[in-house]
Amino acid sequence: MYNFEYKNPVKIIFGKASIAKVVNEVPSNAKVLMIYGGGSIKRTGVYEQVKTALRGIELLEFGGIEANPHYETCMQAVEMVKAENIDYLLSVGGGSVLDATKFVAAATLYKNGDPWDILTKPGTVVQAALPIGAVLTLPATGSEMNGNSVITRAEYMQKQSFNSPYVMPQFSILDPECVFTLPDRQVANGVVDAFVHVLEQYLTFPLNSPLQDRMAESILITLIEEGPKVLANRNDYDAAANFMWSATMALNGIISVGVPQDWATHEIGHELTAFHGIDHGRTLAIVLPGMMNLKRENKKEKIIQYGERIWGITDGGVDARIDAAIAKTVSFFESLSVPTTLPEYDVPAETIEKITLRFKENQMKIGEKGDIDFAGIEAILKDRL
Ligand code: NZQ
Ligand code: ZN
Repeated sequence: MYNFEYKNPVKIIFGKASIAKVVNEVPSNAKVLMIYGGGSIKRTGVYEQVKTALRGIELLEFGGIEANPHYETCMQAVEMVKAENIDYLLSVGGGSVLDATKFVAAATLYKNGDPWDILTKPGTVVQAALPIGAVLTLPATGSEMNGNSVITRAEYMQKQSFNSPYVMPQFSILDPECVFTLPDRQVANGVVDAFVHVLEQYLTFPLNSPLQDRMAESILITLIEEGPKVLANRNDYDAAANFMWSATMALNGIISVGVPQDWATHEIGHELTAFHGIDHGRTLAIVLPGMMNLKRENKKEKIIQYGERIWGITDGGVDARIDAAIAKTVSFFESLSVPTTLPEYDVPAETIEKITLRFKENQMKIGEKGDIDFAGIEAILKDRL
């Protein structure tokens, strides 16, 4: 196992009727900006619950954060935060709203020039951020318990991310009843996103880390069992709770300590969203099978372990078992009504050229061994035609 340091300061407040507890967490003398998305919170009643709970606190609002949040919209929020001297940000929504809130928190206090640097210059460029609290309405990203944020600059069609401990929420409220109002598509996206988060931290190469492996496997199996239950019955509280906690555990850093991580499927998936607006989870369902196929040699021990422990594949030679593991993964995604090939999303072959060119120009190599170059990315995407 590699050496590691791990610190996760996010307080999780989980369970039925937990949204009212927001009042115990937000400082009573704070001037709060509640940030939300396209209006789902007004239809679902979450908005009213938060407003009621915080009625004694000075609370302003910024709505209209889009799915795959735009840099341009975030910068409008930054203006408001500065003009109103806001000192606390409350995200109420899914991963997009929370990622936007994280960026606003960092960009407001960014003093070294253009805030776009936060997303484009890797390293320790973020040195401060406003405090953040979150009420999460959609299990998927794990953003509620990590320091990641993914932002799209619409004018450049570029989807970029940053990570900083400064933007980890002080608290995240997870009420599984928020799942009851989710459309099928968002449930399916969330299951696939969480599933692929686990695989990005698991399908690499063996490092004698049985605890991390088994924790990862337990999340995968729980998603396979509980995801379909949530889809079949949106009011199944226990299934919703298990799904929600699995999604948080998939990307709060605990399963990646001391082990290699991949993230190439995400890097390529972000490009598909940037060019075609495809939902994040769906881009992963497209790319992952191509990734497993291309990297079948590098990843063979872990793909075989995954096939055996998750899908019960014990027969055949190495290639046959890898093929079977890929097929099982594809059919799981398809069973959730998530298509896994490019033509099913009307993505033309020219997009492959555009994406490949971006990686070629940046001379960027991805994957746990940093050995997937533009030619590998082209091969992965052509595999999905
Ligand atoms: O915008 P509103 O009106 O709120 O509606 C949203 C949105 O249309 C709706 N929704 C949310 N909660 C709901 C609900 N509808 C009914 N009932 C509810 N309880 O669902 C739609 C999708 O919301 P969004 O926040 O975009 O989804 P998700 O949570 O999947 O977030 C996706 C974003 O997170 C990024 C993705 O790239 C994408 O931009 N990711 C963030 C990560 C992180 N911070 O660690 C990691 C991930 O890999 C991912 O990249
Ligand atoms: Zn993801």
